[in-house]
Amino acid sequence: MQEIRFAIIGCGLMGREFASAAARWMHLSGMTARPKIVAVCDTNPALMDWFTTALGPLHCATDYRQTLALAEVDAVYCAVPHVLHAEIYPAILAAGKHLFGEKPFGMDRAQNRVIMEAIADHPDVFVRCSSEMPFYPGAQKVIDFVTSGAVGPILEVEGHFLHSSDINPDKPLNWKRMSKINGDYGCLGDLGMHVLHVPLRLGWKPSRVSADLVKRVSQRPDGKGAMVACDTWDNATIHAHVPHALGDFPMTLKTWRIAPGEANSWSIKVLGMHGSASFSTKTPRQWSFMRYTAGGPQAWATEDLGYTPLFPAITGGIFEFGFTDAILQMWAAFLDEMTGGNAKGFGCATPAEAADHHAVLTAALQAGIEGRTVAVDYA
Ligand SMILES: NC(=O)c1ccc[n+]([C@@H]2O[C@H](COP(=O)([O-])OP(=O)(O)OC[C@H]3O[C@@H](n4cnc5c(N)ncnc54)[C@H](O)[C@@H]3O)[C@@H](O)[C@H]2O)c1
Repeated sequence: MQEIRFAIIGCGLMGREFASAAARWMHLSGMTARPKIVAVCDTNPALMDWFTTALGPLHCATDYRQTLALAEVDAVYCAVPHVLHAEIYPAILAAGKHLFGEKPFGMDRAQNRVIMEAIADHPDVFVRCSSEMPFYPGAQKVIDFVTSGAVGPILEVEGHFLHSSDINPDKPLNWKRMSKINGDYGCLGDLGMHVLHVPLRLGWKPSRVSADLVKRVSQRPDGKGAMVACDTWDNATIHAHVPHALGDFPMTLKTWRIAPGEANSWSIKVLGMHGSASFSTKTPRQWSFMRYTAGGPQAWATEDLGYTPLFPAITGGIFEFGFTDAILQMWAAFLDEMTGGNAKGFGCATPAEAADHHAVLTAALQAGIEGRTVAVDYA
């Protein structure tokens, strides 16, 4: 089995998720490549103990330049605050390392363009953008249903990613609620790639958008006894117009940080004249679909899928699939494609898709602020 030596830059929430996925690589069957974490980097050295305790001695650094100078690093997973993407991603590419970068792939469109130029300058390295939710088996069923042609002319598409912890006004501020670090997109930058990955993969590129942006919590505790400004958008609802050969259709995308009661609900629903399909991570083992012929019954069916991922694994098919499995599947797709495979037909989000998602988010932000419809410029 080919071993890909990884460094992790950013040892927070997502850095730990990758380390955990790499540690249970044995869960996957038939892989021809596996990741080996050889170095970690974070400006907060206290976070590295968790990695070295679990994985043994690793190269540890607080300056990413030291990590990128290591000849023994083949590839980097970079999971740092958004404002740093445009600085660190190009540095990773200039060091000749393959890159799995976290979304949104630049804090805004200008910073994304810096990253895209660096990618164009280094065609020899493999680059993908993190987005794991489409790796749920139910999401894959919806994608397969659409690509089989079962939907016919589309009536509407909905894609949601709903969080709710920010409904708590006592939740302390972190960088994700500060526009100077998270970006002016706010919730759009946090969750936009998640809702746009599948539509863009299916070729559904909005030509124009309007958007409703909601801000409900303008101050938060700073964790030291004071209240400080919380200046990011809480919720965004994008109303998109999608051109299509079988008839243009509306697409509604919700990226909400305050959706009462929703912990981490990702969903996609496609309604069509011949067929409709739906999946939500709230019911992770099931998807629903309906096939319709003229005059026939209109009856939705719901199927239990169990554990039926793209990349085979040791878990029995009757069991449930969850978030950490989606992360593992996404990583399997990354390594498979990086080492010459086809990622079982569904690779990770590409840099071009990340750039297109910036085009949509930039138009949506402008549309929401100015209260009008804005054409999406993909150039
Ligand atoms: N794919 C997903 O589902 C998902 C979920 C959450 C976050 N994310 C993305 O992951 C990225 C990180 O988010 P997170 O939730 O892990 O944040 P986090 O705050 O938990 O972790 C970020 C880490 O980066 C470190 N850091 C800051 N500056 C650094 C520097 N100059 N060099 C090295 N390390 C530095 C911080 O100390 C922190 O430990 C963001 O791009 C975010 O959008 C993705």
